[in-house]
Amino acid sequence: MVFDLTEEQRMIQEMARGFAQKEVLPKAAEMDETGRYPAEIVAKLAELGLMGIAVPEEYGGAGMDNICYVIAMEEIARACASTAVIMSVNNSLVCDPLLKFGTEPQKKKYLVPLASGRKLGCFGLTEPGAGSDAGSQKTTAVRGGEHYIVNGTKNFISNAHEADTCILFTMTDREKKHKGITTLILDMKSEGVTIGKHENKMGIRASSTASIILEDVKIPVENRLGNEGDGFKIAMNTLDGGRIGIAAQAIGIARAALEDALAYAKERKQFGQPIAEFQAIQWMLADMATEIDAARLLAYRAAWLKDRKAKHSKESAMAKLYASETAMRAGVKGIQIHGGYGYIKEYPAERHFRDAKITEIYEGTSEIQRLVIASALLKD
Ligand code: CAA
Repeated sequence: MVFDLTEEQRMIQEMARGFAQKEVLPKAAEMDETGRYPAEIVAKLAELGLMGIAVPEEYGGAGMDNICYVIAMEEIARACASTAVIMSVNNSLVCDPLLKFGTEPQKKKYLVPLASGRKLGCFGLTEPGAGSDAGSQKTTAVRGGEHYIVNGTKNFISNAHEADTCILFTMTDREKKHKGITTLILDMKSEGVTIGKHENKMGIRASSTASIILEDVKIPVENRLGNEGDGFKIAMNTLDGGRIGIAAQAIGIARAALEDALAYAKERKQFGQPIAEFQAIQWMLADMATEIDAARLLAYRAAWLKDRKAKHSKESAMAKLYASETAMRAGVKGIQIHGGYGYIKEYPAERHFRDAKITEIYEGTSEIQRLVIASALLKD
């Protein structure tokens, strides 16, 4: 077993870390406060090849592996969790299914601009009545000649306001339940598409979250991803990859909580010495660092399996579950180490705590991850 990063993996780590520290971190507090979408940062992520990291160069991507993706995600999330989720959705939930399930013309038309970051994507699975129960889709797509007519509402969609393209899940045959779900590539400028209000969120405030209302939207049959009825498997397969990205995001947030707490603990003096010299503080720092390393190893393993096209549902769920809960624990400890200063917005500790929470919820709650892990255990 080799734990060293390859030359390419080290290079992307250095590049993403340098960019994140210099150009993203200084803006993170302001973006969190105002909820401003970081358009200029996303444009630079595109220039650096970070919007389609694991997509081959011929389709507009950087042609790297999924470990590079995890590494870059961690570095960007260390600086700004909002920027990281914008990047994660485009990479794993949009480019990845287009690469895996798209036809050659679909890849040329949609994947190339998305992977190169000229365009942005979103993932339209969740509905008001279909969150954890993703199979109970209500959005309908009725075929008439060479088009589908789509009606329904998608909820809590990340990147909804800025996205050009949506990987949209619809019901084409309600009788067949999850086997009646079909995936369509939606051009967000299509007639009949309305974007709802910006959700005012606890964390990841600079990434947009909104509903998408679809009223008699005409989508050409040539925009169908896979066959009719393949949608649920496409969604699940895509989320197996997406959860690796969210694990990496959570690791970045946890690292931010640790690094800020460590710096503070060395500086802050009480009882005549830096608080870092108290064992109570050292134990918290030690637990945070240990859990972060464990979470990172789980994420690297899941990415490594994905690169080898091996089954990785269970490993992705383990990585996301453990990393997101690590981020929450690190967020709590980070505030505790800062004491009263951790509770005010002048210090970033409270932002890390707020940003961490969503990683236990989106792309499958912790309860759903445990369910995926348990069902794999019972099948093995
Ligand atoms: N890959 C391929 N196929 C899969 C699969 C996988 N990982 N997991 C399940 N399937 C298949 C099963 O084999 C089964 O196939 P058959 O019908 O042929 O037997 C079929 O899918 C149904 O499987 P289940 O019976 O296990 O399905 P279920 O209805 O019980 O649901 C679930 C399973 C794990 C709970 C699933 O609904 C789920 O993952 N829910 C969470 C949804 C979620 O993560 N949403 C995230 C939204 S996107 C987001 O959050 C983005 C963002 O904002 C950043």
